[in-house]
Amino acid sequence: MTHTKFFKEEKKVTTTIPPVKDGLTGSVTIPGDKSISHRAILFASLADGDSKIYGFLKGEDCMSTITCMKQLGIEVKEEDDYILVKGKGLNGLEEPEKPLDVGNSGTTIRLLSGILAGQDFSSVLVGDESIAKRPMGRVTVPLKMMNTSIDGRQNAAYTPLHIRGGSLNSIHYLSPVASAQVKSAILLAGMFADGVTKVTEPHKSRDHTERMLQTFGAHVESNELSASIEGGQTLSSQTIYVPGDISSAAFILVAGAIVPGSNITLNNVGMNPTRTGIIDVLQTMGADLTIENERHLGSEPVADLTIRYSTLSSCTIDGDLIPRLIDEIPAIAVLATQANGTTIIKDAQELKVKESNRIDTVVSQLKKIGAAVEPTEDGMIITGKTPLHGGTLQSFHDHRIGMAMALCGLIASEPVSIKDSEAISVSYPDFFEQLTYLRADN
Ligand code: S3P
Repeated sequence: MTHTKFFKEEKKVTTTIPPVKDGLTGSVTIPGDKSISHRAILFASLADGDSKIYGFLKGEDCMSTITCMKQLGIEVKEEDDYILVKGKGLNGLEEPEKPLDVGNSGTTIRLLSGILAGQDFSSVLVGDESIAKRPMGRVTVPLKMMNTSIDGRQNAAYTPLHIRGGSLNSIHYLSPVASAQVKSAILLAGMFADGVTKVTEPHKSRDHTERMLQTFGAHVESNELSASIEGGQTLSSQTIYVPGDISSAAFILVAGAIVPGSNITLNNVGMNPTRTGIIDVLQTMGADLTIENERHLGSEPVADLTIRYSTLSSCTIDGDLIPRLIDEIPAIAVLATQANGTTIIKDAQELKVKESNRIDTVVSQLKKIGAAVEPTEDGMIITGKTPLHGGTLQSFHDHRIGMAMALCGLIASEPVSIKDSEAISVSYPDFFEQLTYLRADN
């Protein structure tokens, strides 16, 4: 018997998660890393020759990147167990006939803007309602400084973006935000610029771009807060193995930590130190977590993780830790409702400009089912341990809100229904199926 029910109405899906009776047990392989999958398609397109990408995440965001690259003249083929990208070199892209639609994907629009800045042709980038509200000035401002012509609503602060690139000059950009999307857009534009382009950030953001550009044969210099690249370097085709996404693993880790009787092994999880804030938080809160079989998949570290239910205590999450777990905060908020004491999340104002305003969406939905949580200007304060009751919650078309609310259903006294739960396909299409598989009561 399956406990996950789908009700379809005009493509909108409501998923109901009943409380778990006997724990979550078994092992799952986590889907490919979203950040790494995007970069593999983009960099393979700019490389000379055929690249193969194994473990690619076939979620909606990464499929948007493939669609855009196809419109730019790149042949991308889905083979049985890998994606084949027929790269055309640094200057092989073609002017698209229609606007490039990035869907819900901030990574696609921001990284692609950096690549398009280097192209001597005209292109238009559009996306969905959420993308229309997200700040683009953080990439268009530095790209304009490099001599790209970019237009868009409110002086190129919002989509649609119209980009015409060409001969770029290098810059040393002091980014006001710790953002891998901003850093990557500038480094990608830097590949087409004269001289050395450098980005310095207030805190270190994820470094997949620096690692993967090196894999494709470029020389990138990086230290704690800066990364730089010299223009004109060519990329050569590669075989890339994408590790499991620790941001997706976070939902299963939290489920195992809060559902009594659980014992779950997660295989092949990416353990890049710029992404492992969730591991630090689980350990600080007293979770029963084991890390085994640590190894490398190409330039990225991976491991197998085992999580078991345990008593948890609160912690404070702030500063340098925030960029290392920014996407995991919706899951961490649910974790904190089950930890004894007061968990404080601060310095996380970036939550406001994600797929939804995640301070508002997390707090409003958790309150509806009885959590003790209050919003702050740059985060939230959660007091536990609090029993949750059932109800109907919204995803706000934000994949990570949909999954975080599903976790509540596992431990609430009554079922939790999540409206517009189809949003989860952006990053974790098999999430509900994997949860069902792990239930001992299914
Ligand atoms: C990403 C960077 C982060 C993250 C996003 C993916 C990336 O965004 O939240 O989900 O792939 O570079 P910011 O660069 O806005 O911090």
